[in-house]
Amino acid sequence: MKVMTLFGTRPEAIKMAPLVKALEMDPEMVSVVCVTAQHRQMLDQVLELFDIKPDYDLNIMKSGQSLSEITSRVLMGVEDVISKEKPDIVLVHGDTSTTFSGAMAAFYQQIPVGHVEAGLRSGNMYSPYPEEMNRLLTSRLAQIHFAATQGNVDNLLKEGINPQTIVKTGNTVIDALKNVIKESYVFEDERLNKIDYKNNKVILLTAHRRENLGEPMENIFGAIRKLVEDFEDVILIFPWHLNPAVRNVAEKHLSGHDRIHLIEPLEYEAFANLQSKSYLIMTDSGGIQEEAPALGKPVVVLRTETERPEAVAAGTVVIAGVEFEAIYDVTKRLIVDQSAYEKMAEAVNPYGDGHACERIVSALKVWKKSK
Ligand code: UD1
Ligand code: UDP
Repeated sequence: MKVMTLFGTRPEAIKMAPLVKALEMDPEMVSVVCVTAQHRQMLDQVLELFDIKPDYDLNIMKSGQSLSEITSRVLMGVEDVISKEKPDIVLVHGDTSTTFSGAMAAFYQQIPVGHVEAGLRSGNMYSPYPEEMNRLLTSRLAQIHFAATQGNVDNLLKEGINPQTIVKTGNTVIDALKNVIKESYVFEDERLNKIDYKNNKVILLTAHRRENLGEPMENIFGAIRKLVEDFEDVILIFPWHLNPAVRNVAEKHLSGHDRIHLIEPLEYEAFANLQSKSYLIMTDSGGIQEEAPALGKPVVVLRTETERPEAVAAGTVVIAGVEFEAIYDVTKRLIVDQSAYEKMAEAVNPYGDGHACERIVSALKVWKKSK
């Protein structure tokens, strides 16, 4: 069975890497890897860490790229690869423009699509933007849906997806995470080794969502700056995203403070271990809302809603929104109120048991036999 995995950004690569490895090791599978390189440097960091050498690299990234540019470049590039390889199935992941456009390219050539991390829904088509629409459209294009949680399965059933085409697998991010956390981890960046994680409250921040660009991001960085200024034991580490639109706002609010570290994006192993050493995490990322609960780290979500309600229900994730006061107040409580903090700092893992990739590979074989 020839399986083509297709991905282009950092989070897709992290979550597809263990699946690529599982496919490569299986004697019944021929694995073909195509990367769009919607992200260049942030994708290459992951490929290197997991030692994945793509068979095809479309190298589409342009600085400040628009959604239409990504969509059209992926569509055209993937067409050539699929018509040459003619795989039995193309696997896409999640909700990026690579995901939707890659699925569309496969559909145009009548090649079946498998959707990994299917069934996430926020219910708001403009948030996350454009990811919610990418999810909906990819679900329409896919013939087999690998859903991480029962909630994700239920979302697909509500939309009339045939139950026989849905497989509950857990999230592959837990497969990726379980191999990289090490108690004695040493960072390449000496600044990170020198921080006293036990006697300070280290906040790890990430922010990149398109719908947060502009006023929400001004609020986010403004509130965080004030938190660092108001609490002397707070240290902020922000591995800032390479998007220049994020960097411009971040620089305005966060530069020039000795307890704020603006650092380049970390490779995955370093970032995962930094999550594990931090006091709490503030983020608008999707994947981090899945990883941090597994590591017992409270997460303050810098968005108005989440498509990952499982960890909110379990109490380790709180939605702060994108207003200055709310972000400040929610985070301040976790800094000053130890019992509120401890209630949130319980390791829960609603997203999987680390065996999602095995389940996906088995389901692919069953699917192939049924054809
Ligand atoms: C993209 C995805 C988003 C995902 C996120 C993960 C879309 C529309 N967005 O958002 O769903 O959550 O990736 O991080 O699919 N850049 C670099 N080097 C890199 C990566 C990015 O220079 O390695 C810069 C480029 O100027 C690029 C910009 O960042 O144009 C934005 O990248 P893009 O993929 O368009 O959007 P993200 O916000 O990264
Ligand atoms: N991540 C990383 N290095 C960093 C920041 C994040 O490896 O400097 C990882 C993080 O552990 C998670 C993923 O990148 O697995 C999240 O990616 P991102 O926030 O870019 O996208 P999203 O999850 O929002 O789609």
